[in-house]
Amino acid sequence: MVKICCIGAGYVGGPTMAVIALKSSKIVVTVVDISTQRINGWNSDHLPIYEPGLDEVVKQCRGKNLFFSTDVEKHVAEADIVFVSVNTPTKTHGLGAGKAADLTYWESAARMIADVSKSDKIVVEKSTVPVKTAEAIERILTHNNKGINFTILSNPEFLAEGTAIQDLFHPDRVLIGGRETPAGQKAIQTLKEVYANWVPEEKILCTNLWSAELSKLAANAFLAQRISSVNAMSALCEATGADVTQVSHATGTDSRIGPKFLNASVGFGGSCFQKDILNLVYICECNALPEVANYWRQVIKVNDYQKTRFVNRVVSSMFNTISSKKIAVLGFAFKKDTGDTRETPAIDVCKGLLGDKAKLCIYDPQVTEDQITKDLSMRKFDKDHPAHLQPPSPSSIKQVSVVSDAYVAVKDAHGVCILTEWDEFKKLDYKKIYDSMQKPAFLFDGRNIVEVNKLREIGFIVYSIGKPLDPWLKDMPAVVA
Ligand code: UDX
Ligand code: UDX
Ligand code: ADP
Repeated sequence: MVKICCIGAGYVGGPTMAVIALKSSKIVVTVVDISTQRINGWNSDHLPIYEPGLDEVVKQCRGKNLFFSTDVEKHVAEADIVFVSVNTPTKTHGLGAGKAADLTYWESAARMIADVSKSDKIVVEKSTVPVKTAEAIERILTHNNKGINFTILSNPEFLAEGTAIQDLFHPDRVLIGGRETPAGQKAIQTLKEVYANWVPEEKILCTNLWSAELSKLAANAFLAQRISSVNAMSALCEATGADVTQVSHATGTDSRIGPKFLNASVGFGGSCFQKDILNLVYICECNALPEVANYWRQVIKVNDYQKTRFVNRVVSSMFNTISSKKIAVLGFAFKKDTGDTRETPAIDVCKGLLGDKAKLCIYDPQVTEDQITKDLSMRKFDKDHPAHLQPPSPSSIKQVSVVSDAYVAVKDAHGVCILTEWDEFKKLDYKKIYDSMQKPAFLFDGRNIVEVNKLREIGFIVYSIGKPLDPWLKDMPAVVA
């Protein structure tokens, strides 16, 4: 029996460990977390994260070879393999603030592992961390030399939220980085056997430690760069009358480019892209590579530009003022099929609309009112640092209401903004929506999910990212921020 302990029961640790347990009854997996609330959630019928297919996997293994516990030290001490999947937010103060990763949680986990261990362990870096973190962690682990051998591996996770279970079942690849020493190679082999329970051997890539760490940052940076590239094109399409969907399709059919991940949007969000690129920028700066740092920084700048551009479109279309106008916001999560709002473009867009004194009525199928209120009242990056939480700013928050039905959100609204591509928004009765709104009725589609021509036939004035502009919008003078 191999005993695995995973520190951190979050979006990565929870689903990944559940799938490892499902795929091998010979492995006992315990996921531990300092948050009692999170662990209680994992042990209940209402898991703390929403992820299609996750409930079934957890139900099949929980209590058999999958356990969730707050007894962190006991389970770490007993484990052969310890995964570390704690949060690594962006630093909010001090050296590298706003760019560098805050490794406080990582370091405290590493010190705890060193303190409680009584037997040799493989320690697996699962959360995305800056290159060479493994080396720092190795030093912490081996500092209290008690004759225990710790072998460190980097095994970054590539799952995307909303499709986590399918991504874990059928990964494009599993990446394991380790030291090029006999102990390092042996540890790689041990971890490889865990994944070989369901992943074909040729998809398990083994590299050195630094390559694995950097590959994860590189993969996320490349993916984000694709979105910023297509979003930059969307601005040009609007200015020239081309259709970004057609441009994406035509471009993506080149097999060297490929069709995936070319959807223009109001901007990318999620816990990884911005954080990892900022990290990359910081590493480049620390290594005296300012040109490389600037190249990657531009990906974030274009993403911020896209969100601002969207807000400007809303304001300029609606006669240059949205003060006291009701705007319905459909979707708040950073993508469909998740309740996660970390770095969601909806936060910046809503703050932009509130800045122009709009009244927002927000509906998202998975995000709670409490979460939306917190998100809109916090400063950038503070969200990941619970200790820095700011109290809600009453003046802007009273302009926001959160409802549990799309039709309630749009009633009497002057405009509708679609900010997440939930499937249910494609199936709404837009005639009914039009009839219940103030006229002229504006619809701003930040995810290109509605059929623009059909909506224009109903009577809407429609803005859809990167699509030929509505004649109405063409005649409106552009707002300069
Ligand atoms: C990402 C990576 O895909 C994953 O490999 C890594 O492990 C974690 O970071 P995630 O953030 O969960 O996963 O979701 P992803 O599907 O990558 O979407 C990120 C953001 O980009 C979302 O806001 C999404 O809406 C946006 N996006 C994605 C686009 O705007 N256009 C696209 O074509 C694709
Ligand atoms: C390019 C386009 O590929 C082609 O579709 C278009 O019609 C004309 O422009 P070409 O310039 O002939 O074709 O060659 P290509 O193979 O694209 O290489 C362009 C340059 O990029 C070369 O200098 C090549 O060495 C370099 N390159 C290409 C790299 O440095 N790395 C790569 O991975 C690929
Ligand atoms: P990710 O998206 O990378 O999975 P999350 O923020 O969802 O990140 O999850 C990280 C989890 O790690 C949180 O539930 C947090 O409580 C937990 N955590 C952080 N530090 C420790 C620690 N020292 N010991 C145990 N759990 C920790």
